[in-house]
Amino acid sequence: MRSSRTTVGIHDLSFATTEFVLPHTALAGHHGTEIAKYHVGIGQRAMSVPALDEDIVTLAAAAAAPVVARHGAERIRTVLLATESSVDQAKSAAVYVHALLGLPAAARAVELKQACYGATAALQLAVALVHRDPAQRVLVIASDVSKYELDSPGEATQGAAAAAMLIGPDPALVRVEEPSGLHTADVMDFWRPNYRDAALVDGPTSVTAYLRAVEAAWTDYREHGGRKLDEFAALCYHQPFTRMAFKAHRHLLNVLGHDPDPDGIARAVGPTTAYNSVVGNSYTASLYLGLASLLDQADDLTGRPVGFLSYGSGSVAEFFAGTVAPGYRDHLRTAAHREAVARRQPLDYAGYRALHEQTFPVDGGDHPVPPQTTGPFRLAALRGHKRIYEARSEQRSVRTAGQ
Ligand code: CAA
Repeated sequence: MRSSRTTVGIHDLSFATTEFVLPHTALAGHHGTEIAKYHVGIGQRAMSVPALDEDIVTLAAAAAAPVVARHGAERIRTVLLATESSVDQAKSAAVYVHALLGLPAAARAVELKQACYGATAALQLAVALVHRDPAQRVLVIASDVSKYELDSPGEATQGAAAAAMLIGPDPALVRVEEPSGLHTADVMDFWRPNYRDAALVDGPTSVTAYLRAVEAAWTDYREHGGRKLDEFAALCYHQPFTRMAFKAHRHLLNVLGHDPDPDGIARAVGPTTAYNSVVGNSYTASLYLGLASLLDQADDLTGRPVGFLSYGSGSVAEFFAGTVAPGYRDHLRTAAHREAVARRQPLDYAGYRALHEQTFPVDGGDHPVPPQTTGPFRLAALRGHKRIYEARSEQRSVRTAGQ
């Protein structure tokens, strides 16, 4: 089933995260929770917290700007932005990002949604577009801010980040393979009605639904001629919290009657968790922060197959494989990724809570947003029900979007 057509896949991968970070020690102190529950039980040490003037658009533009700077904008004819924390019901966040990055007018720009799965749909659409016309490049961006109610069980799993990928022929990082294993099931495990800021979740149901989807997507993958599990050098699972990736792999090994040896699970999954354990859940970006972590941390993976399990509540899952390209290490952004995580300013609990509780006026007036972020793009104002974005003045060319 693996195709002998042009190889297409991930040519570049860059992620960005927020201005602020809340260490789980601060959350544990507030709740009187043993820190081991966070560090060990869910595998999280810190969560990214957006500044007032950051959102999915500013994060997406920050993630994608280095990709456009390295490869140029000329061949990008499609921008696909996946998110489940959208800022508008009609206008796609991709159009704002297209403007902020100065991409060619002769392009399509669209937003996609299916919870944390959206970016994988975007990636597969992008691969198909490039197969149709290998002269084109597709910019795929996953960008999300995960927000649960204060003091809820989900609170400790919040986070925020964007991952940008350039999809093209003869990719420098990962060749995306056929087939895919697919699974859709109507489950109310996690959702966010349009009138709500924070997601609703049935935690235990969501964990069970995720594990069932892993099993079903894997079964479909194998039935369509996919690789055997022991062929994979590593497995990237969607990481709502990093311990979930370990649980998912253990579940798959159990279902297949393989030995769920903890050391083997740690080898297969551990290198994918470094960024997510300190960023938190970035929803649809999380799988691709997992890939960034793997490529940045692991020993040489040249020519090795990697498995990807994408899960989006509601629910849709996809299992697919990619092969790591020769010379990939020359194209990584390891230093920039580590800097994106290290540069965040720590918040105390009160600072985090104030940001969490902040809401913007909805009266259509002129409301400048106080400058907080030191990132390359910011939400400058809400004016006449429009979101006004700008590149910060340190950027070489100042652009705006939404005016
Ligand atoms: N030391 C070590 N471990 C500890 C501990 C301690 N002191 N105290 C608790 N733990 C362990 C528990 O044993 C448990 O581990 P197991 O699951 O392996 O048994 C783990 O820490 C979590 O403990 P609880 O189940 O008691 O935690 P909780 O009630 O606070 O809820 C949660 C956990 C359901 C994941 C909750 O954080 C939540 O609702 N999160 C949001 C939903 C979510 O992320 N779901 C994942 C699947 S859905 C998805 O993937 C889509 C998406 O992105 C949202």
